Amino acid sequence: MDTEKPPTIHLRNYKPPAHLIETVSLDVKLHATDTRVRSTLAIVPNPKSSIKNAPLVLDGENLTLHSVAIDGDRLPSSSYAVTPTSLTIKATPRKPFRLDMETGLSPKDNTELSGLYLSNGIYCTQCEAEGFRRITYFLDRPDVMSRFTVRLEADRAEAPVLLANGNPKTEGDVPGTNRHFAVWDDPFPKPAYLFAMVGGDLAVATDSFTTRSGRKVELRVYVEPGKEDRCAWAMESIKSSMAWDETAFGREYDLDIFMVVAVSMFNMGAMENKGLNVFNDKYVLAKPDSATDLDYINIEAIIAHEYFHNWTGNRITCRDWFQLCLKEGLTVFRDQEFSSDMRSRAVKRIQDVRTLRAQQFPEDAGPLAHPVRPASYIEINNFYTATVYEKGAEVVRMMKTLLGAETFRRAMDLYFDRHDGEAATIEQFVACMEDASGKSLKQFFRWYEQSGTPEVTMRGKWNAKAKTFDLTLSQKLAPTPGQAKKEPMHIPLAIGLVGPNGHDMQLDIAGTDISGEPVIELKEKTKTFRFRNVGSRPVPSINRGFSAPIKLRTDLAQKDLLFLMGSDSDSFNRWEAGQTIARGLIGDAIKKLKSGRGIAEPKAYAAALRQTLSDDRLDPQFLSLMLTLPTEQDVAGEMARNVDPALVHRAREKIRARLGEALDGDLTRIWRTTKVAGAYAPDPDSSGKRALRHAALGLIAASDAKRGAKLAFDHFLSATNMTDTIGALSVLTQLDVPQRDEALEQFLAANGKDHLLVDKWFALNAQLPFPEAPRRVRDLLDHPQFSWQSPNRLRSLIGSFATLNPVGFHAEDGAGYRLLADVVIRLDRSNPQVAARLAGSFKSYKSLEAGRRTLARKALKSILKTEPLSRDTYEIVSRSIA
Ligand code: PHE
Ligand code: ZN
Repeated sequence: MDTEKPPTIHLRNYKPPAHLIETVSLDVKLHATDTRVRSTLAIVPNPKSSIKNAPLVLDGENLTLHSVAIDGDRLPSSSYAVTPTSLTIKATPRKPFRLDMETGLSPKDNTELSGLYLSNGIYCTQCEAEGFRRITYFLDRPDVMSRFTVRLEADRAEAPVLLANGNPKTEGDVPGTNRHFAVWDDPFPKPAYLFAMVGGDLAVATDSFTTRSGRKVELRVYVEPGKEDRCAWAMESIKSSMAWDETAFGREYDLDIFMVVAVSMFNMGAMENKGLNVFNDKYVLAKPDSATDLDYINIEAIIAHEYFHNWTGNRITCRDWFQLCLKEGLTVFRDQEFSSDMRSRAVKRIQDVRTLRAQQFPEDAGPLAHPVRPASYIEINNFYTATVYEKGAEVVRMMKTLLGAETFRRAMDLYFDRHDGEAATIEQFVACMEDASGKSLKQFFRWYEQSGTPEVTMRGKWNAKAKTFDLTLSQKLAPTPGQAKKEPMHIPLAIGLVGPNGHDMQLDIAGTDISGEPVIELKEKTKTFRFRNVGSRPVPSINRGFSAPIKLRTDLAQKDLLFLMGSDSDSFNRWEAGQTIARGLIGDAIKKLKSGRGIAEPKAYAAALRQTLSDDRLDPQFLSLMLTLPTEQDVAGEMARNVDPALVHRAREKIRARLGEALDGDLTRIWRTTKVAGAYAPDPDSSGKRALRHAALGLIAASDAKRGAKLAFDHFLSATNMTDTIGALSVLTQLDVPQRDEALEQFLAANGKDHLLVDKWFALNAQLPFPEAPRRVRDLLDHPQFSWQSPNRLRSLIGSFATLNPVGFHAEDGAGYRLLADVVIRLDRSNPQVAARLAGSFKSYKSLEAGRRTLARKALKSILKTEPLSRDTYEIVSRSIA
């Protein structure tokens, strides 16, 4: 940092604002280098503020102030003060007053993509978390909620389409010019972070949805001209989201129109601006020959996520940014439930847990660990994390488990009723859960405040004579940054005891009601639960459906795990049993590789898998997950220290190879029989078949690279949809075979004009699991199609490299770390948000073996000594090093 350390903001210092802004009227004249914003604010003293007579301090960044007036009187420059981040008006009336300002800004020079910027010629905005202050001076904090009206004006040729939040009012030409205007009005008070406007040459797809109370809502999806044929899936997803929120939560849409705009330059996935969601076009555009099954699934989920924010985020917003999980954790929970209802619940749960383990567990175990509700931050943009989102969703899910589905629904109704139109806190949300259920969640609240993943140990003891089964559970939560001492958590564990016949036993615990879905609650450090009337030796199946986000250590023997893998009535735990066995196998393989011993065929595991694969009642997508080993991050996370990522990779590959050999016949059968006939559709069954087919292909290639490469290359050549193309390429890129570069070359030659496919090409190149990968990635920074301006391109190349290519990123000589550091340093000058996010890829470096740890640290230090450095990157790197 060139000056001092940037200040830390603390939750405990929260104070209501001294002023509120009741209405905002904006008049925006769009211009690439000199956009003019005239704003009229109706300001009132905040009755809830204890500060009397406070000066008015407005936030503002990168703005030129042209004029300011109170109640129509222009202020002399002596009455206000401007700094790079604020406008202070020294004396303001003690009663309501009107503030008029005119400011200017240059969208073209906005490389941070926060505020108003140009995305490929389209004017668009991103205001969460603190971007509105880059459009005009304002009280840019979520507890200031205002009614907005917006008049937009632009050159008709440059921006024939003009959009803002709310309902459209009037539009027309500006006489005597080549300009036109549009007026939008949003009747719902909202914080400035939900403001949005768009201007540009856009094509549109339209449709409508009739709400259950009979209101007709116009639906529009805007895309760059020429992409109209890629909107249909997004449109379908809007309609299913609207219908689902009505049935699942009783929530209807509330404006006359709902719009989605897809832009190619976007820092995040998408943004829930009221009535005008702005999307990274990766999560909108889809047709069979350009999008994969995974893209289709992501589009459906993210459209739903942003739509669901209309109630959880917009109608009820956050009091301050510490409450971010109030809207994000809850909305992720809602979109997960939606996807479960649209597709397979079991599969969705497994995929979500895989994500949690790959992304959130490492975060919780490293230097960037923070509570679901952080207590302090330097830059709020750094807290859009897996912990706030994914673990935040788990916390909501646990409350549903504790309350039961019906009571949870009543609690949600109460929340919507009680807080509609407000900026709320986590305490208020949890109070609704308590009030609706009569249950105390005082101890449970620690899930919001204590960081780290609890470890639960389980021991079971069956007493044949007394017919009792004692289940002893202990919990431990390791210290995390800033939290040396931890209190026990309140952990809901869904449970079953599986009898020798493979069926669940009737459960009977003295003093506990476990009718319905049995759940036991662990609140103590250690507790024994005694089950009665247990006539035969049970195999306990606990944490069913992953009811709590914990690390579970059981005393189950391999044969018990194999038994659960084959017969647990809980699909999640069937999968989980397989993962536990596989983790053990990889762990063993690591030891054997270290001491130069050979790795035997995992016979029992392969036999159990074979049995699972032959069960044709099982969903193909589920089978594909059964065939997928735990990720390398997952394995490394279990090791916790002295990790050698190259060794982890080799060990996992060895197990995959041995499995491929053992299952050869089955894999070949799958490969032959799962070919999907007919036109492409992203439905669960055909996408499941494709996933299973590609999982089989991956294992074939792991055991026999030559045969795998041939099958994959033929598959690549004959593919008629993007899922098959990428399926083939993903297998080829893991192999050192001539077909690999041949296929990559052909892919780029065929798709080089489609930016989303070029992104896929960069991502594939970044994932070659070889120590030379850093060289290859560094060279690609000079590729004509690489761009330092496009977040998607950066994430495809650098993000994929740092998170999906452990072998390359952790190259023993540190070349991967140096590459990432160099990229972060350069990018920090133009886009600090994305730079900081990429810097977060160092999050697990403390668990590495000494040599790599030192090299990673050195790379982090080289970032930290760069001047100037953004707050964003400074915070991530300094916390990593601490
Ligand atoms: N609020 C967005 C979401 O989760 C994410 C986002 C945050 C987008 C900040 C842009 C900037 O839906
Ligand atoms: Zn969100």
